[in-house]
Amino acid sequence: MEVTEKDRYVIRGGNPLVGEVEIGGAKNAALAIVAAAIMTDETVTIENIPDVRDTNVMLEAMQSIGVNINRINRHTVEINGSMVKNVNIDTESIRRIRASYYLMGALLGKYKRAEVPLPGGCDIGSRPIDQHVKGFRALGADVVIEGGIVKAKAEKLTGAHIYMDVVTVGATINVMMAAAMAEGKTIIENAAKEPHVVDVANFLNSCGANVKGAGTDVIRISGVSRLKKCTYSVIPDQIEAGTFMYAAAVTKGDILIRNIIPKHLESISAKLTETGCEVQEFDDAVRVVASKRLKPTHIKTLPYPGYPTDMQPQAGVALALSEGTGTITESIFENRFRYVDELTRMGANIRVEGNTAFIEGVEKFTGARIKAPDLRAGAALVLAGLAAEGTTIIDNVYYIERGYEDFDKKLRRLGAEIRFTDAGEDMMKTKFKVVS
Ligand code: UD1
Repeated sequence: MEVTEKDRYVIRGGNPLVGEVEIGGAKNAALAIVAAAIMTDETVTIENIPDVRDTNVMLEAMQSIGVNINRINRHTVEINGSMVKNVNIDTESIRRIRASYYLMGALLGKYKRAEVPLPGGCDIGSRPIDQHVKGFRALGADVVIEGGIVKAKAEKLTGAHIYMDVVTVGATINVMMAAAMAEGKTIIENAAKEPHVVDVANFLNSCGANVKGAGTDVIRISGVSRLKKCTYSVIPDQIEAGTFMYAAAVTKGDILIRNIIPKHLESISAKLTETGCEVQEFDDAVRVVASKRLKPTHIKTLPYPGYPTDMQPQAGVALALSEGTGTITESIFENRFRYVDELTRMGANIRVEGNTAFIEGVEKFTGARIKAPDLRAGAALVLAGLAAEGTTIIDNVYYIERGYEDFDKKLRRLGAEIRFTDAGEDMMKTKFKVVS
């Protein structure tokens, strides 16, 4: 069913979440990898793609330029980019997702031309693309932005030495993709080290590219003229996993989160341990047990391996329920505290000054009617609703469904009373029947 802006979650809070949850593939890695898959004329098979709106919009946009997409099952897709008809992507939906910019790097690398609308995505602050443009220009492309469209073209791409002025995941991946098919060697300095940067490099290498150093701050790429087919499985989603870790923390629950890479979750595990949760790591699982009131802590978002900005609102919800005063400093995006007003309606006591939130913990939240302001903040507010006394109604769940597959279903299996209702449904009649 198509989810619209009018759809909502109705949550009756108070149940500790207990049980096991399986984590899906990383949305942000999958978005870049499916784009990179068009760089070979052979058929690439990508497994573990999350079935969420953003990845589906991306695949549709790719289809609109002639890429053959064959969905083998819910999470596996075959992609063949040999029939790409044009390098001008202009579907309405692609403007809504941030990751559309990965088609620039992929198309420019393969066809030396790309025209892609300026990226949309969550309104979490100004999201410049100057480092992407700088990287493409360094590789020899002419890049102009006209009528909201980024137009890049080159006679040929030539390897270059590029220093990123800020640590950026998007520009690192984008330039890495284009450089994979440039002539000669490229060095990207001050590269982002996020797990999905490594995942995209591994994917490109599986297709025959020569990318070394991903996961460190210097990436070295020797361009190749052709990429070939491969079968590749996307890494687990660090942020989905982290969100369920916080679900255990705020509901005083006990959740075993399976199919994850514990190393990717270290900063989150460390902060949850500081707040008094018990975090047990296994080979490919992590268990979070929260038996007592949370303790406050101080968090600053940073590029990986620092604490992820995409896990900031979830931490905000936990600190708002802790025994004392904690702080969160957001150093990546300037507009990521939009959940604070919503949380205040539920009884939270938070003051934001500049890029820091001073959070005085309260004993409990009470249910309220609130709105998801963006993807991660929306998920965090669901956690708040699950921890709250009474009923919480969250509007705009459209945002949440951009990045979480079966979020309500997975939560219900852990004992949550959460129900998706469409706009037409009579709220007063909402029953909390558990159907998964
Ligand atoms: C990606 C993720 C997003 C996550 C973010 C940081 C996707 C689709 N989105 O976003 O969920 O929150 O990484 O982990 O993968 N910047 C510039 N110039 C640029 C590019 C970025 O100044 O050309 C700045 C940004 O404003 C921001 C910082 O660099 O302050 C980091 O941004 P970046 O890592 O690029 O984030 P995104 O790729 O947009």
